[in-house]
Amino acid sequence: MSNKELEQGQIFTPPWVTNEMLDLLGGDDVLSDHENFFFEPTCGDGQMLIVIVERIYKALLAKYDGDIEKALSETLYKFYASELDETLIPPARMRVWQFAAKEIKRELSLFEQYLIAHQLQQSIECRDALKESIDAIHSCPGMRALKREELKRQKSKKLATEGAIK
Ligand SMILES: C[S@@+](CC[C@H](N)C(=O)[O-])C[C@H]1O[C@@H](n2cnc3c(N)ncnc32)[C@H](O)[C@@H]1O
Repeated sequence: MSNKELEQGQIFTPPWVTNEMLDLLGGDDVLSDHENFFFEPTCGDGQMLIVIVERIYKALLAKYDGDIEKALSETLYKFYASELDETLIPPARMRVWQFAAKEIKRELSLFEQYLIAHQLQQSIECRDALKESIDAIHSCPGMRALKREELKRQKSKKLATEGAIK
């Protein structure tokens, strides 16, 4: 291990630990729940992130009866990750990219490659988790979509309550 890795605490979580942590959350229903969004504030080179992504994907694949493209596209919108060390961002993005490309099981069109790369640029960013990530997470596409749905739900609940009162 290099001095830089030791100084910055760059010791990555083994997959079995990440898997046990995910199990503690409550299983596949939690991972695939439409309303849940996952945040890895200090993602390093993506070692922990990729396990989270794989588990979300597996849960969504079961939910969508083996529909790979549906499960994968939703997976890519279901997380946000940040990391302070800019040199670790490309390997973190590359891990998720390679996972997506492998799961698709066919050659990706240029357009699909662009969409995946663009999404990963927005969902894995070089940011200081203590200062910037909370604002960033709220402006990333997956989180914005969730917030829109939550607003809609609140509105229809309010309308239903008002209707019941009248
Ligand atoms: C112990 S590693 C863990 C990486 C990953 N979460 C894992 O478990 O495999 C900690 C990482 O946090 C990063 N880091 C430290 N302070 C940070 C901050 N304020 N914002 C974002 N990342 C930070 C370090 O650069 C390092 O890569």
